[in-house]
Amino acid sequence: MSLLSVGIVVFMTMVWKCLSVGVNWGTMASHQLAAESVVKMIKENGFDKVKLFEPDDKIMSALIGSDIEVMLAIPNYMLQQMSTDPGVAAAWIDANVSTYSYTRGVKIRYVAVGNEPFLQTYNGTYLHYTLPALRNVQEAINHAGLGPEVKATVPLNADIYYSPDSNPVPSAGDFRPQVRDLAIQIVQYLYSNDAPFVVNIYPFLSLDDNDYFPLEYAFFNGSNIYIKDGDHLYTNVFDANFDTLAWSLKKAGFPDMKIIVGEVGWPTDGDKYANIENAKRFNQGLIQHALSGEGTPVRKGKIDVYLFSLIDENTKSIAPGSFERHWGIFEFDGKPKYELDDIKRLAAVEGVNYMHKRWCILKPHHHLKDAQDLLAKSIDYACSLSDCTALGYGSSCNHLTAQGNASYAFNMYYQFKSQNSGDCDFHGLATLTHNDPSDDKCHFPLMIADGRRVMLLHKNFVYIILAFLQGFLVILLLVS
Ligand SMILES: *[C@@H]1O[C@H](CO)[C@@H](O)[C@H](O)[C@H]1NC(C)=O
Ligand SMILES: *[C@@H]1O[C@H](CO)[C@@H](O)[C@H](O)[C@H]1NC(C)=O
Ligand SMILES: *[C@@H]1O[C@H](CO)[C@@H](O)[C@H](O)[C@H]1NC(C)=O
Ligand SMILES: *[C@@H]1O[C@H](CO)[C@@H](O)[C@H](O)[C@H]1NC(C)=O
Repeated sequence: MSLLSVGIVVFMTMVWKCLSVGVNWGTMASHQLAAESVVKMIKENGFDKVKLFEPDDKIMSALIGSDIEVMLAIPNYMLQQMSTDPGVAAAWIDANVSTYSYTRGVKIRYVAVGNEPFLQTYNGTYLHYTLPALRNVQEAINHAGLGPEVKATVPLNADIYYSPDSNPVPSAGDFRPQVRDLAIQIVQYLYSNDAPFVVNIYPFLSLDDNDYFPLEYAFFNGSNIYIKDGDHLYTNVFDANFDTLAWSLKKAGFPDMKIIVGEVGWPTDGDKYANIENAKRFNQGLIQHALSGEGTPVRKGKIDVYLFSLIDENTKSIAPGSFERHWGIFEFDGKPKYELDDIKRLAAVEGVNYMHKRWCILKPHHHLKDAQDLLAKSIDYACSLSDCTALGYGSSCNHLTAQGNASYAFNMYYQFKSQNSGDCDFHGLATLTHNDPSDDKCHFPLMIADGRRVMLLHKNFVYIILAFLQGFLVILLLVS
């Protein structure tokens, strides 16, 4: 090994003791891992920041004393009330931020006011609530005496800024005319309060939305595809997007506004570009790039990012696409989907309890010609109440036979229902098996026994012991 590569290895190890990378921790899943075990995994892997979409008592309690920095969000549906009633903002901050903000408590550093409230699919619903809500929230924070350390901000979607088709380079960037005034007012307020601009950037969506988008330009290494912008060369869309924002801010008079990337990542299933290879390549490249300090052509230095996301969420809306339920670096059960080669071996969540090794499948000798209608309806029903996103075009289970499809759907429903005995029937079409129906591409999961369930079990166990002891006492009394 040359001295240089030793140097690189030492550097990587140093960097990776503490990743200095954030992760988004969403909880839209049918079964939750125990919050304490997830926090332990986050720490073990060296992630030092988390972003939560809503305060959850169990998660907040698990974060106490962890030293993990937290960005805590207020959901969009609360923005209207927060914008008109400072008391609502104050009560929220009091209950959800002040409660945890003590020495060795939870290190809340940012409160995210809404999530992408300017997204076009919301039809402008939140446009005029956002800034007043932001103000009320920051004032409530200041009032609680937390102003210097807790900053309110607004995570915004990257399509509030753009470069014109006639000159698609970052230096031509600006906020979109429809939201420009509002965006600049928000930036002004954030800037005056020393708060960052938070933006979500998705190269995967750029690729997926546009048939002509060059695949290599979505990644960070070895691309011979580039955009020339004056003296600057852009070899990846992430940098180009980031700098389009940097230029938009500069034009609005804020050349040194701090930028945080609130969400960035790559899904592993549910789309032809969503697979482990691409996700690993993207996230690996992103992390190395973000931590290297080389920055983007316009902004030098480390890039502050929160990866999207930590764990798969099997009940997320799939309106944008089936890939929505597969953004996790970790599976629903806390196992890493891939290693970050040259960087880090990822540790899994420990102590996960699984349900019994029981899968629900279509009866083996079922003839597809029989009960066709009933079968189709049963599959639809099962999928509508569980998660069949792995069956679609370009996904990990798309190669299954029609029988395999039915089994997959039945099993997902049965696992979602926590293996309830009545939930593997489907008018007599289904049966249980102890043989794992998975193949090397398509995984038929076994559900995890979630934290609550385990506690219930423990509780029952305690009752049994108590009952036993009581019985023992009675016998002792009788005998004496
Ligand atoms: C704390 O946050 C939760 C989740 O957003 C919310 O439901 C609750 O109302 C908040 N507490 C107060 C007192 O506002
Ligand atoms: C947005 O507006 C369009 C047309 O005005 C309407 O069809 C759609 O349902 C609206 N969506 C939402 C989320 O309000
Ligand atoms: C970029 O990375 C991927 C995966 O890490 C690798 O397969 C590919 O060969 C690399 N390309 C170049 C040009 O280094
Ligand atoms: C299985 O289901 C998927 C998703 O609905 C569909 O695309 C595929 O064609 C089905 N396969 C067979 C063999 O019917």
